[in-house]
Amino acid sequence: MRDILAELERRRTAARLGGGQKRIDAQHAKGKLTARERIELLLDEDSFEEFDMFVTHRCTEFDMEQSRPYGDGVVTGWGTVNGRMIYVFSQDFTVFGGSLSETHALKIAKIMDMAVQNGAPVVGINDSGGARIQEGVASLAGYAEVFQRNIMASGVVPQISLIMGPCAGGAVYSPAMTDFIFMVRDSSYMFVTGPDVVKTVTNEVVTAEELGGAHTHTSKSSVADGAFEDDMEALMEVRRLIDFLPLSNREKPPQRPFFDDPARLEPSLDTLVPANPNQPYDMKELITKLADEGDFFEIQEAFARNIITGFIRLEGSTVAVVANQPMVLAGCLDIDSSRKAARFVRFCDAFEIPILTLVDVPGFLPGTGQEHGGVIKHGAKLLFAYGEATVPKVTVITRKAYGGAYDVMASKHLRGDVNYAWPTAEIAVMGAKGAVEILYRSELGDAEKIAARTRDYEDRFANPFVAAEKGFIDEVIMPQSTRRRVCRAFAALRGKKLSNPWKKHDNMPL
Ligand code: HXC
Repeated sequence: MRDILAELERRRTAARLGGGQKRIDAQHAKGKLTARERIELLLDEDSFEEFDMFVTHRCTEFDMEQSRPYGDGVVTGWGTVNGRMIYVFSQDFTVFGGSLSETHALKIAKIMDMAVQNGAPVVGINDSGGARIQEGVASLAGYAEVFQRNIMASGVVPQISLIMGPCAGGAVYSPAMTDFIFMVRDSSYMFVTGPDVVKTVTNEVVTAEELGGAHTHTSKSSVADGAFEDDMEALMEVRRLIDFLPLSNREKPPQRPFFDDPARLEPSLDTLVPANPNQPYDMKELITKLADEGDFFEIQEAFARNIITGFIRLEGSTVAVVANQPMVLAGCLDIDSSRKAARFVRFCDAFEIPILTLVDVPGFLPGTGQEHGGVIKHGAKLLFAYGEATVPKVTVITRKAYGGAYDVMASKHLRGDVNYAWPTAEIAVMGAKGAVEILYRSELGDAEKIAARTRDYEDRFANPFVAAEKGFIDEVIMPQSTRRRVCRAFAALRGKKLSNPWKKHDNMPL
């Protein structure tokens, strides 16, 4: 009997060694943790339950039967994050470069099926050279099995990808179909084809960092939602994100203890908007002053900074924030910001996370670059996302809400539930200068007349009261009382029930 127990321990020890101590040391030398070390940091202490530790590959090509390490390059199972269950897989770069074989794929597929069935998020830690070359089409089939599950799990359980090494080929397409992707600076890369193939095909010389490093994907391509200094920070931040999210679409977002008075007044907000309408201010100041304990988890911080997206808590409950940022491009909507916010709004709607929209938007960004890039279709994504969303929607217009952008930003007409404006709000088809130049073109030579016309327009339209008279704004509120008003609005919306007409699915402007 003792021999049998010892045999189990012997096999476990072998499995834990993955591709061997030399390769583990090489992983550490690159500043990277091993697959198991990452799982330990991600999960609560001693909460990991591993599956399929002894699975080995079945390949016999290229003498592969000579090397059949336990686990086959991926560690899978479940555990808890602050007591809440998640499923996890972590690719082991020390075993065939974390490449995906048929059996490696089956292990991932197994925990994804369980996650959907049992209603818990999936966190994938990716560190993989893509399809295992020796297995040929069997590994491509394995990838497609994982892709199909990514698609089926979308909108059912949150899926989060951590990119923690060089990820190529199929190793990037699976993350691409998950809800959030986070990278590690200087040690993680994502590309469909690496620098060598790029050189061969297009003759471009590019480093891995330029082609698919964290900076590229968080600020240029928007493939990734955030980047962190090292493995440790990335894993801790993913734990923080999980605390904001529901476990599945069958559950409400979690309620956390809070120590911040929901009725807290913020007198400093009364002077947040500058007297000069063209002067910017930092919308993040408003977000952190509204949030419980000032805690804000930002998504896509480095991309399309003219719009801010992320999660806060109000009275302990998760609330998503979408806010124009007057500090960047005056807070205009454009192609990138519309795409960024639309995807975020759709995630929140899928998982019943209420949305707070903070509006200071002078309109859509004009120009040939935008028009030729398809701003009509991309802008429509955000319009569509807000319009189809059935979660509680509370909107606060702090300053400008002009033109089509007024409609888009969770207006009353797109089923905004509670729409507030500050006294500083300006809600109109366009700003005074533009309007006067169109309406009084014949008087443009007369500066005095134009100044009078501009003043008149500002008096009549550059305020929230025209919209309030029509009921498009439910109430004009004091800036200092915004946290109290917004908390009460979301509390009143907890029982909201709204559904869209039956359809197979919509045809949003992709
Ligand atoms: C089998 C692989 C492998 C792979 C790496 N290895 N990638 N084994 N299949 N795809 C092995 C190496 O042989 C090596 O084994 C070990 O992993 C570490 O690899 P290195 O090259 O030494 O590491 P490094 O220099 O850090 O480079 C990592 C890398 C590079 C950038 C990932 O290995 C690489 O370019 N690999 C191939 C990437 C690729 O083209 N994949 C196929 C994509 S096609 P030893 O024994 O020496 O430790 C694809 C199709 C799916 O994925 C498409 C779906 C849409």
